[in-house]
Amino acid sequence: MKIIQITDTHLSPMKPHFQANWKPLVDWVDAIKPDLVVHTGDLTVDGADFEEDLIHCREMLRDLRYPTLCVPGNHDIGDLPGTRQPVDGERLSRWRRIIGPDRWMHDLDEWRLVGLNSLIIGSGSSEENEQLAWLEETLRTRAGRRILVFKHKPLFVEDPEEGETGYWGLRPEPRRRLLALFAEHGVELIASGHLHRARIVESTPFRCVWGPASGFTVGPMVTMPVGEVLLGAAIHTLGSTVESRIVPLGTLKPFVIDDVLHEVYPPAPTEASAA
Ligand SMILES: [Fe+2]
Ligand SMILES: [Fe+2]
Repeated sequence: MKIIQITDTHLSPMKPHFQANWKPLVDWVDAIKPDLVVHTGDLTVDGADFEEDLIHCREMLRDLRYPTLCVPGNHDIGDLPGTRQPVDGERLSRWRRIIGPDRWMHDLDEWRLVGLNSLIIGSGSSEENEQLAWLEETLRTRAGRRILVFKHKPLFVEDPEEGETGYWGLRPEPRRRLLALFAEHGVELIASGHLHRARIVESTPFRCVWGPASGFTVGPMVTMPVGEVLLGAAIHTLGSTVESRIVPLGTLKPFVIDDVLHEVYPPAPTEASAA
């Protein structure tokens, strides 16, 4: 069983800066012939504010000739309260109407794949509480299935015990809750996007994989102490163990957001708002 994880495509009909990387990505997926594709978010440049971006991505996703599941990224539905584009009912319902559910469960033989909306985790909203209750139920009823989790934001950036990482990772308190829940149910893989860095961490009770973006890398404008700067995708092969592999794709154009930030995400935001 082979799952391809793609992430952070950042596509838009109005800002087609990274569009050129879509076709080579699709061609590569075709060559691998996966059983399933999971997109771990930031499909769009700005689906949080522009329905056209989400509609465009829905069209693009039809190019993938394999079953495909998506979880939302911050650029698709917004982020926590207090940010420039907080997740709200309008943004959530737009995602659900155009792309699909923002959280899901998908059983594949002995595996249960769980997709989470990571942008509401730590918000204190009723949506967050409902998702947590749903997650607990989804894990509790797994009936021996092995669990893989997909979400946009990573659980942590450097260390599971770290404090607040602001834009980049989950807040410490909900992170601790999820870590305990995932450990209790023997979760084997947490796959995420968002950081535009590639990394595999084996040191926690489960493997964490940061899938590399396929849209663009982030250059010196952001200081990120860990992770590899590359464009590509990840392959998760499910067998007696889960094998995860980061795959750099030389067919993708090496776009760097720093060069076009003023056009893609104006006005020039603070350093931590382009991923
Ligand atoms: Fe993101
Ligand atoms: Fe991103």
